[in-house]
Amino acid sequence: MPKCLISGAETETFLSFGRMPIANGFLDRGEFQSEYFFELKVGYCPESKMVQLTELVERERMFHENYAFFSSTSRRMAEHFGRFAEFVQRSYLARSSDPFVVEIGSNDGIMLQHFASRGIRHLGIEPSANVAKVAQSKGVHTISEFFDEALAQRIVAEHGQADAFMGANVMCHIPYMHSVMAGVRRLLKPTGVLVFEDPYLGDIIQKTSYDQIYDEHAFYFSVASVEYLVARHELELIDVVPQHVHGGSMRYVIGHRGAHPVSENVIKQRLFEQELGLERPETYQQFARNVARSKQELMTLLRDLKQQGKRVAAYGATSKSTTVTNYCGITPDLVQYISDTTPIKQGKFSPGAHIPVVAHDVFAKNYPDLALLFAWNHGEEIMANERAFTDHGGKFILYVPKVHLA
Ligand code: SAH
Ligand code: TMP
Repeated sequence: MPKCLISGAETETFLSFGRMPIANGFLDRGEFQSEYFFELKVGYCPESKMVQLTELVERERMFHENYAFFSSTSRRMAEHFGRFAEFVQRSYLARSSDPFVVEIGSNDGIMLQHFASRGIRHLGIEPSANVAKVAQSKGVHTISEFFDEALAQRIVAEHGQADAFMGANVMCHIPYMHSVMAGVRRLLKPTGVLVFEDPYLGDIIQKTSYDQIYDEHAFYFSVASVEYLVARHELELIDVVPQHVHGGSMRYVIGHRGAHPVSENVIKQRLFEQELGLERPETYQQFARNVARSKQELMTLLRDLKQQGKRVAAYGATSKSTTVTNYCGITPDLVQYISDTTPIKQGKFSPGAHIPVVAHDVFAKNYPDLALLFAWNHGEEIMANERAFTDHGGKFILYVPKVHLA
């Protein structure tokens, strides 16, 4: 039985997606033979309430100088991070005479650029060197390292403690969470806060958005599991704010124990989680059945469309789509290509399924009949941009929360 990364207790594996490649491991034809696979499976720990991967991939296989995800590919996300920066500045920096903010997983500087442009002392920690370079070129102070307790100590020695430590879509990536939290505790001033957001377990369960589960996401956080985790480090969850981005995320605000009042939002969200059954193993068994049904419905639809002679392409070579294509068995005869605006992905093949990734032009110049929306979390933005496709009779295929056409 695998042990919980947080409590050390035994976890109950409730779902396996089988053999899975690296979600962001877009590759050339010549690399097919040496492609790396692991078993993607998830478990629940009744002690810590943490849902987590029960087999992990080494971090260097995922985060390196050819990392394929550039945060600034979505305009809506850029706006979101502008608001995130404002929230932190307004709520937690106002009383500091020389504020200092640190962000982990700062990627291409999408959030820290707002602090840089306001002349606020800041530091980005981004191990993937190629995306870190983009941030540096924008004037965002960034070091290319993995955050942990040892690095936190070095930062404190060099820059002093921080008013705010931020992270978006990164805390859930780090299996050595106790080292991270010990680092947070050292790094934060007595009134400092950790503000982070990640896809929310409640949304994943409610929407059957199983594609949030992939190698990089070691944890699927809930308010209950985050409370358990931070309490082990004399920290305290003081606020939670649900977010619409990435199909439903949660922002968590954490301070040193007793340093801040605890918002009612925390209690309300815990009650919501209990009602949803996030602390009942049966909920995860039901989720596993819902996932199997979703796969069956999507594959039935794709096979029917093929029989009808329809041309189907996909939109957005997301990391999430690696779980969908490999788990469902989507092959290039069902989905001809994936359109994506990220230059580093274009001309490559999708991990495992080996569907060609092409530039958006290919899609726009010769619309397919249907587009499987792998980037469903950016659905509003994409559908607004692609009116010409739908006006032309094109339809999007969605599979969250249910398989349907739009
Ligand atoms: N915050 C951005 C990027 C999320 S992708 C956004 O929300 O769009 C996750 C990022 O975390 C990657 O750029 C990856 O290189 C980085 N990362 C992974 N492990 C890390 C660690 N231990 N410390 C700091 N960053 C890490
Ligand atoms: P994400 O879901 O992990 O944010 O990844 C989104 C992917 O979709 C990324 O590779 C960029 C791509 N994309 C497009 O191709 N067109 C778009 O309009 C948007 C918003 C994203």
